[in-house]
Amino acid sequence: MTARFTGKVVLISGGGSGIGRAGALAFAREGATVVVAGRNADSLRKTVELIEAEGGRADAVTADVSSSQDVARLVTTTVERHGGLHIAFNNAGVLEAGPLADMDEAAWDHLIAVNLTGVFLSMKHQIAHMRANGGGVIVNTASNLGAHMRLPFLGAYAASKAAVSALSRAAARECIGQGIRINAISPGPIDTAMSLRPGESEDARTERMKEALPIGRIGTLAEAASAVLWLASPEAGFTVGHDLVIDGGATA
Ligand SMILES: NC(=O)c1ccc[n+]([C@@H]2O[C@H](COP(=O)([O-])OP(=O)(O)OC[C@H]3O[C@@H](n4cnc5c(N)ncnc54)[C@H](OP(=O)(O)O)[C@@H]3O)[C@@H](O)[C@H]2O)c1
Repeated sequence: MTARFTGKVVLISGGGSGIGRAGALAFAREGATVVVAGRNADSLRKTVELIEAEGGRADAVTADVSSSQDVARLVTTTVERHGGLHIAFNNAGVLEAGPLADMDEAAWDHLIAVNLTGVFLSMKHQIAHMRANGGGVIVNTASNLGAHMRLPFLGAYAASKAAVSALSRAAARECIGQGIRINAISPGPIDTAMSLRPGESEDARTERMKEALPIGRIGTLAEAASAVLWLASPEAGFTVGHDLVIDGGATA
């Protein structure tokens, strides 16, 4: 495969684990300089070490995506240290499950602050930079639990992710004329800690996926990352405001 992202600076929130780390490794393997962001400095450092061990280029910046100040600093630091910001993968997210009537308001506020406000703040600061610097590409992580399907006990999460999908598509229409191409991904269950129910073993999850998904298995990190890289690549140049479902047929 050719190195599609040579010379590109890619910013990834939630880059210290799961889909974000897999995306970071995949972008770096294709020539990008990757800046990973999140709250946990140790997990970010681990992603940087993994990339550097393969001969790639990476950097870590701790930031909470629900803080406008942090997100502004993240964009400024990325540009100052690496000379630009060409691609952003806004992927940080949290999941809360349980009956709506029992959900406390602080948990709701936190979920919305990270999953929705975090994407808004990220795009706000990224678009301002990209608009003034020749454009860019943004991919946001929504979920198939949102605009595409809903499940009981996951209403708050689904509401936040449906909003990410809508925000991404509206922003795409707004920004494409300024050279900023925006899309979203909507994964179904992917092989990360987030797709495990509380106390569930990986074997039990494997059994659950056989029943739950038409494909009969969980999605891999590589399958999620490759969709992100395609959306971010010039091959997807005419793809604008798309919300790419990657869910093994769950919403087909
Ligand atoms: N795995 C799935 O089945 C699945 C399916 C559909 C959608 N998704 C979405 O995919 C994205 C990645 O999830 P994952 O599965 O890879 O799970 P994960 O490993 O738990 O990743 C979530 C990431 O978000 C970061 N994060 C959480 N709150 C943050 C905050 N306030 N500021 C900055 N970073 C924050 C976490 O890092 P820190 O803790 O260091 O901050 C972590 O790296 C999420 O948006 C999730 O909703 C996942």
